[in-house]
Amino acid sequence: MIDLRSDTVTKPTEEMRRAAYEAKVGDDVYGEDPTVKKLEKLAANILGKEEALFVTSGTQGNQIAVLTHTQPGNEIILEAESHIFYYESGAVAAFAGVQTRTIEGEKGVMNPKSIAASIRDDDQHFPETGLICLENTHNRAGGAVISVQNMKEIYAVAREKNIPLHVDGARLFNAAASINENATEFTQYCDTVQICLSKGLGAPVGSIIAGSSEFIKSARKWRKRLGGGLRQVGILAAPGIIALSEMRNRLAEDHQNAQVLAAGLREISKITVVNDVETNIVVIDVKELGVSSDEFVEELKEKDILAVSFGPTLVRFTTHYDVTKEDIDKTIDTIQRQIKVNQI
Ligand SMILES: Cc1ncc(COP(=O)(O)O)c(C=O)c1O
Repeated sequence: MIDLRSDTVTKPTEEMRRAAYEAKVGDDVYGEDPTVKKLEKLAANILGKEEALFVTSGTQGNQIAVLTHTQPGNEIILEAESHIFYYESGAVAAFAGVQTRTIEGEKGVMNPKSIAASIRDDDQHFPETGLICLENTHNRAGGAVISVQNMKEIYAVAREKNIPLHVDGARLFNAAASINENATEFTQYCDTVQICLSKGLGAPVGSIIAGSSEFIKSARKWRKRLGGGLRQVGILAAPGIIALSEMRNRLAEDHQNAQVLAAGLREISKITVVNDVETNIVVIDVKELGVSSDEFVEELKEKDILAVSFGPTLVRFTTHYDVTKEDIDKTIDTIQRQIKVNQI
């Protein structure tokens, strides 16, 4: 089976499994797990923030950030197809009690002027704008990179109005790899960031949120409230350390595979690659084939290739370290044949 549904399907490496087995552990709620402490210190360092916190998932990390930065009744600004708005089950309303103000981005990129215009004035009729969120890379925009310049401009707006800026950086290291820079190029222009260890970096579980010491102190309490205070969790932090120290450096390989896949798919008539393929995601439109994305995905599955439906006629493929160049060649070849057979 070639599984191109998501980079979340990656399995922990042998080294990660061994590290989990051998991890020194303690009760992390008592602050006594040395492996968690090591992971958090490493993450804070890589992300250029004072402190970091190990959380169970990207969703939990984002929600803790929203809860920590805002008050019920606030309004938060986010991109119209961002994960926090689109895919987190309405959690910001359910938990933080905030309302959302969405801005339609251009390939995931919000115009700083639109953000400035959306920030509420001080008026008793209005909610207070409590937070601005960006997503880098942007999943629904096909892994699009939000440029350092765009982040810098949005951060300037946020600072001027004294509003915190949070980055959902589930795939921030893909953004960093795409410009061949450290993640701090981006994180210097935000107050807090969430990164996933369990996507392209291959750890089995977990995310990190990072920010000032004051932010992390309050975030730690929200994590506890949400039931995310775990005990001998060094077992899960140990693979996270390998994810951060070793797996970041190979993400460019996944981007290269995505380029090869996109180039092969562009050669196939009636298939359109719709995104710019800046990182590890390729999105195609199968409308001209006269099938729905569900039908296309189902047929591919019969040939042992997995992708996901990303809209009525859109299909998403995501490359990751469990997918080889040979798998990519086989995928292109299989789709080519599938279309030929259907046209006869
Ligand atoms: C951009 C983005 N943010 C957050 C998440 C949530 O991560 P998790 O599945 O660990 O909750 C995802 C998951 O795919 C994502 O793509």
